[in-house]
Amino acid sequence: MIQITDIKNIDFDSIPIDSFWNTGEKELKMHKIHAYPAKFPAFITTKALDYARKNSIKTNQIADVFCGCGTVAFEAKRCDIDFWGCDINPVATMIAKVKSRKYQPERLKKYYKDILDTFAHKNISEIDYDSSNERIRYWYDKAHYDDLFRLKVAIDESTPLKSDYRLFFTCAFSNILKSTSRWLTKSIKPQVDPNKQIADVMDAFKKQCKFMMSANNESDVTGESSTDIITGSFLDSSINMPKVDMIITSPPYVTSYEYADLHQLSSLWLGFVKDYRELREGSIGSRHHVYNFERELKHLNNTGTHIVFRLLDNNSSKAHSVAKYYLDMQHVTATCYSMLSNGGMALFVIGNTEFKGVKIDNACHLAESLQNSGFSEVLVTKRKISKKILTPYRDQQGRFTKDGRGRKIYSEEFILIGRK
Ligand SMILES: C[S@@+](CC[C@H](N)C(=O)[O-])C[C@H]1O[C@@H](n2cnc3c(N)ncnc32)[C@H](O)[C@@H]1O
Repeated sequence: MIQITDIKNIDFDSIPIDSFWNTGEKELKMHKIHAYPAKFPAFITTKALDYARKNSIKTNQIADVFCGCGTVAFEAKRCDIDFWGCDINPVATMIAKVKSRKYQPERLKKYYKDILDTFAHKNISEIDYDSSNERIRYWYDKAHYDDLFRLKVAIDESTPLKSDYRLFFTCAFSNILKSTSRWLTKSIKPQVDPNKQIADVMDAFKKQCKFMMSANNESDVTGESSTDIITGSFLDSSINMPKVDMIITSPPYVTSYEYADLHQLSSLWLGFVKDYRELREGSIGSRHHVYNFERELKHLNNTGTHIVFRLLDNNSSKAHSVAKYYLDMQHVTATCYSMLSNGGMALFVIGNTEFKGVKIDNACHLAESLQNSGFSEVLVTKRKISKKILTPYRDQQGRFTKDGRGRKIYSEEFILIGRK
């Protein structure tokens, strides 16, 4: 770890990789019950907790302010530590809630059987493909739509209202929505695959439930610690935030993709929104922000100002969205500081990127932002992202490729630690 004193004199590129943060223990199956882009490896949490204990930092209550699909939430539960998390994406918080609970295997088996029976025998008359949501019709043919509709009704009729068990099977339903649709698999851009072999709904659901039930059997969660997961924006000042000893988080990537767009199938089917674009609102790094650029610009820190002015020479829309991202992140570090108890620690995992030759140095911006928010000690190190080493490019469709003509993506990211 390198301590940052004078930010101008640190070259983030030359920071050596610290192998401590590269690898860790194998992840439990529970971490894999639902696909989620930009999920970070579970061992980051365990290593962060190790690091905190070695440095005599308390770990009685931890938070992840961008909790995503609940990687930190589940690891906190395994360690019997109280957890608070928030994410703007309702699909993310649904997965996070499901992961951090332990289910009675016999009850899961019973509900599973009831769902299959209801699906097989119930006559549902109100299925009306032609008047369903236009976006849903775009992704599903009638046969798959009808089966998914019946399955959704079967889950709701076979499990108690608002119960953990309904959420468990709803999460299973959510994770089969891509394979049973025309969505181009393994793409970060939502687009139709005209040649796709679309999965059968009940085959996919049975496979998914079996996997989730075995993940539940393997899960070693036993303790009584509390887990509180909120759906909402961390920028929203009306959210009631607890005091915590530690924050472990990874912020959204700067304008790289829209999380809301990627989760549109689940959001539409589960009724979180009528138009999936609503979910972009309030999201940090969204390309769809409207704000007064001229007026806000003066609030950017030095690193942010430097990067945004270099981008302005190239592309003003990119400069505006990066500026908004940086302003939001400055707000985030200030709020994290106020959430921490004295002596507490915040750990951020963040990557850099570039646009038309302009380096978008998010790590440097974040370090300066932590200092400006009052963190007394700011440390930085670098880790390697294992999978991306093998496929460091993205093709025109946004899929990972080994072909060097694609857009380069980074295979390293930074760990920043701030002490209060
Ligand atoms: C890099 S991901 C975090 C992934 C997480 N560490 C995991 O393992 O699943 C960043 C998350 O920030 C969320 N996000 C974006 N804007 C937000 C906001 N204003 N408030 C709260 N969460 C937000 C996104 O929905 C996304 O889940």
